[in-house]
Amino acid sequence: MKGNVLFAPLALNMPATVPHHIAIVMDGNGRWASKRFLPRIVGHKQGIDSLKRCVKACARRGVKVLTVFAFSSENWSRPADEVTGLMDLLAMAVGREVPQLHADGVRLHFVGDRSGLSVNVLAGIARAESTTQDNSSFILNICFNYGGRWDIAQAAAQLASQGLPLTEDSMNKAMALAHVADPDLVIRTGGEQRISNFLLWQSAYSEFFFSDKLWPDFDQAALEEAISAYQQRERRFGKTSAQLQSEASPPTET
Ligand code: IPE
Ligand code: IPE
Ligand code: MG
Repeated sequence: MKGNVLFAPLALNMPATVPHHIAIVMDGNGRWASKRFLPRIVGHKQGIDSLKRCVKACARRGVKVLTVFAFSSENWSRPADEVTGLMDLLAMAVGREVPQLHADGVRLHFVGDRSGLSVNVLAGIARAESTTQDNSSFILNICFNYGGRWDIAQAAAQLASQGLPLTEDSMNKAMALAHVADPDLVIRTGGEQRISNFLLWQSAYSEFFFSDKLWPDFDQAALEEAISAYQQRERRFGKTSAQLQSEASPPTET
């Protein structure tokens, strides 16, 4: 028998490589804490440890870019003490974690609307970005006060203010994540199956993986599960399976 002719061609189209860019909606911190009768902020603190683990696991696995959703444009609607707690946590975590991230060769970018952020938070962000600006082994984008609609609107406003035409190409260059390729894989933890105003423009052709794990519980095994699900997908980008197969193994001349 000549091998498995039914499945072999399909395997050629599957992205056996690890995703270059993973984006994550880190959801479920509050529920993780509530289940333990703890204040929600404890879940957010635990979420930072989970993120540190995830950065290491992604880097080890050969992923080059990780983009995480840490605070959405809509999260301002939460109770004031949770919002203040999240802002304080960001400022604290940036101060505490940047030296190690820097030592590990991670370049940090904060992506989102800077207006509305306190002087303290802005100073921490500026320090983190300038300290790590020459690192190139891994990029960590932290979406903070970010919304996909905000991003599209700010890109359009930027172009309009310069009198430039609004095309897909010019928009790509003006978007907040213009410094990286679009995410290959978008993961959402916490069991919800929605985008919640994350990377609306950039996820046009991403593969999605929804995990029931709450973000603080998202460990290396869970990441592995998401990557192997990604590797089972056929990314067609509008083409047919047959086209992809012939591109992967063009007919040999006789
Ligand atoms: C995600 O966890 C973190 C932020 C939105 C800041 P949540 O705080 O949304 O956790 P759940 O969804 O309430 O469990
Ligand atoms: C999305 O989570 C935002 C972040 C993870 C930062 P939310 O918990 O805010 O999303 P919704 O409100 O349940 O859609
Ligand atoms: Mg949530």
